[in-house]
This record gives sequence, C-alpha cells and structure tokens, in this order.
Amino acid sequence: MDYIITTEQLTKKYKNFISVNNVTLHIRKGSIYGFLGPNGAGKSTTMKMLLGLTVPTKGSFTIDGRHFPEDRLAILKEIGSFIESPSFYANLTGRENLDIIRRILGLPKDTVDDALELVGLEEFGNRLAKKYSLGMKQRLGLAGALLGRPPILILDEPTNGLDPSGIHEIRNLIKSLPSLYNCTIMISSHMLSEIELMADDIGILNHGRLLFEGSLDDLRRSAKQAGMSADNKLIGDQLEGVFLAMVDQDNAARKQRAQL
Ligand SMILES: Nc1ncnc2c1ncn2[C@@H]1O[C@H](COP(=O)(O)OP(=O)(O)OP(=O)(O)O)[C@@H](O)[C@H]1O
Ligand SMILES: [Mg+2]
Repeated sequence: MDYIITTEQLTKKYKNFISVNNVTLHIRKGSIYGFLGPNGAGKSTTMKMLLGLTVPTKGSFTIDGRHFPEDRLAILKEIGSFIESPSFYANLTGRENLDIIRRILGLPKDTVDDALELVGLEEFGNRLAKKYSLGMKQRLGLAGALLGRPPILILDEPTNGLDPSGIHEIRNLIKSLPSLYNCTIMISSHMLSEIELMADDIGILNHGRLLFEGSLDDLRRSAKQAGMSADNKLIGDQLEGVFLAMVDQDNAARKQRAQL
C-alpha cells in the first residue's frame, strides 16, 4: 500500500498526563483521512506533532518518504495546515493576509490569487479580514493552507463554528481538492456524520489511543463483529451511533481498569 503519512508509536506526555498514546497511523496517498475523536481525544496534539509544532515524547513519523526528526524542514515544506481557528491581521485584506504567508513561505506571487480562487474568495480578496463572515474566515484559513498547492493538507476541524450551509460548502470544497490537484488530506472532526461524507479512511481516537483505523465499510464490519447494532445498510445517524458506542465502550473499559 502506498502510504504518504505513517506514524510509529507516536506519543505525547504532558507531565503525568498522556495526551497521545502510542498512535500508529497509515494515511494513503491521494486519500481523505478522517481523524475522529471526542473533545480532548488528542487530535490537535497529534496534528501539531506532524507539523513540528510540538515535540513527540516518543515515537516518530514518515511523511512522503521523509523521516522525523531528521527531515523536519523538508517535511514542513510539503504540508499546508489549518490548526484550530486561524488568526489573521484584522486590518489587512484577505489578499494581504495571504501575501504575508506567501512571502514567509517564499512562494511566487500568483499563488495568492490561485488560493483565493480555489476557496471561492476571489471576489472578496480586497475586503478587510475583520469584515469577513465566519465562513469567509474559515475559507481564508483554508486558502492559507492551500498556498502553493502543497501535496499534503492537515486540517484541524475546518468546519468549526460554521452553519449547516457553510459546513456543506467547505465539505464540498475539501472533497474536490484531491482530484483538483492530487493532494492528500488529513482532516479532524468530532462528528463521524460529517466526516463520512468526505473521507475515504478514518482513524478513531479516544483518550489518546487509536481505537480503530480503516475504511467506513471496515468500521461497519468491525462494529458488527463487536456486537454493536450494525448491519450493512447503516447510514447517517446509525454510523455515528457506532462511533459513539465504540468510544463509550472504551470509556467503560478504562473505568474498569482504573478500579482494578
Ligand atoms: N500544552 C498542554 N499542556 C497540557 N495538556 C495539554 C496541552 N495541550 C493539550 N493538552 C491536553 O491533551 C489532551 C488532548 O488535547 P487535544 O487538544 O489534542 O484534543 P482534541 O482531540 O484536539 O480535542 P478537541 O476536539 O476539543 O479539539 C487534552 O486533555 C488537553 O487538555
Ligand atoms: Mg482539537
């Protein structure tokens, strides 16, 4: 299998608290990988380690044949990212904000207009960032991640705070990107119902541990084997139920272990 991102036993400890616990991921080249987990599961921490924003306590990872930590800078050049809510200079226009990022990355000038067009903000490039709606801000954040069309995108809850139509729009945009310019996307969310409409594969994280990794069909199958109420015709809410049941089961097992 052609994996573009793999992690090996990736772990992050804060004092005595294990935020990410021996996580081994496999992300296929050209796929959309949904990284799922409830609040506090360790999604952002994992993504931050992949982006070199926080140092792993243990473990390593390989991105596009380059290995962390030796190839840290080369790895960063390959990734466009959107971590939590991106912030902008409010008194600069969307285009000016992107131009700052472009200069830092040393990219050609025309990459700004290309990114604005990719996210559908071309008409609003000259509006001040403080006058952008929430959806427009999220789009500007995505445009920042897309500057120079990086082969890998790491997007941390890019639909956070959006209304249903905003979510729909951003989802369609993200879904279109791999075929538009041949990238791989890792996207986090706490809702399976949102991710299942976009992702090819998913990884489910709970309390820092990876509970499941595979395709949505694999999830249905493994839920069935585990005796969760699943059949092959599961859709929408029911699949979300499987994800929540998986997390609940893990939480109950954790409690039991803690009591022993
Ligand atoms: N700098 C830090 N110091 C101590 N603990 C931290 C730090 N950063 C994160 N944590 C803890 O690590 C755990 C995982 O946090 P993380 O932000 O990765 O979760 P998440 O899955 O992204 O959650 P959410 O869905 O709420 O964004 C949480 O319990 C959090 O409090
Ligand atoms: Mg997070």
